[in-house]
Amino acid sequence: MIFYFSGTGNSRHAAEFLAGLNGEIVEISKAVREGKFSYTVKNGESVGFVFPVYCGSVGDPIVEFVQKLELKNAGYVYAVITCGAGMGAAGGYLAKLLKARGITLDNAYQLVMPNNALIYSGIKKADECGEAIRSAENQLDQISSRINRKEKAQIKGGLKGTIFRKTYLMMLSTKKFYVTDKCTGCGKCQSVCPVGAISLKDGKPVWVKDKCAKCTGCINRCPVEAIQYGKATEKRSRYVYPGLK
Ligand SMILES: Cc1cc2nc3c(=O)[nH]c(=O)nc-3n(C[C@H](O)[C@H](O)[C@H](O)COP(=O)(O)O)c2cc1C
Ligand code: SF4
Ligand code: SF4
Repeated sequence: MIFYFSGTGNSRHAAEFLAGLNGEIVEISKAVREGKFSYTVKNGESVGFVFPVYCGSVGDPIVEFVQKLELKNAGYVYAVITCGAGMGAAGGYLAKLLKARGITLDNAYQLVMPNNALIYSGIKKADECGEAIRSAENQLDQISSRINRKEKAQIKGGLKGTIFRKTYLMMLSTKKFYVTDKCTGCGKCQSVCPVGAISLKDGKPVWVKDKCAKCTGCINRCPVEAIQYGKATEKRSRYVYPGLK
């Protein structure tokens, strides 16, 4: 069983790759919305958590889910943490959260993929990321072999992860989001937002929550690039994992 969270499709692709044809995958934000926190797996089945690193730590939807998680009969428990450069202390922080639920995290694997954080810096569009996407496939092959071998590691960084998470928590305001005249009112931003922070009012998106998860799904996935965040994003590219609808 794999639990995943994804804003722009990188982690979703990784989760689908690792689940193969038969593995069950659970979307964390959907589980949170539906209040589904209790899972019993077949005795000794491996359980994975696949999600993006945020500011060197773990983002809100994953934290909220794990803090309420009841997991029975899990065997090998691993995380695959996608990132633009490095997973920082996200593994250590997740290990700490899981430990509080009586679950041991056996390993945390870093998966470098294209960066989606355009609200902080310039990023590349998917068609400029061919090499990074091919490299991610190689990394995924290696990670899945290591998962099959049930490789274990000591995962440190719980304290660092707590400190890094404070930076993330300071960045969650939705105040700087706005929509331009390009908006066609298609509603995609509302439907992809994992935390229900967007509503359509008179056919245009409005950010109805003061804070959100900062997954960048709305701004990257708008089909006409009508969403901006402050002034900086006007000239920046958008990124979505190839083929993500
Ligand atoms: C708010 C935010 C913070 C991020 N922080 C980091 C970071 O600290 N280190 C890093 O390498 N990538 C960082 N990234 C990049 C993402 O982790 C990376 O692009 C990830 O693969 C996106 O996954 P997704 O497509 O499943 O949403 C950040 C992205 C966002 C939106
Ligand atoms: S996804 Fe873009 S075009 Fe569609 S409603 Fe949202 S802002 Fe408007
Ligand atoms: S408002 Fe946009 S960036 Fe924030 S959680 Fe929703 S989709 Fe992600």
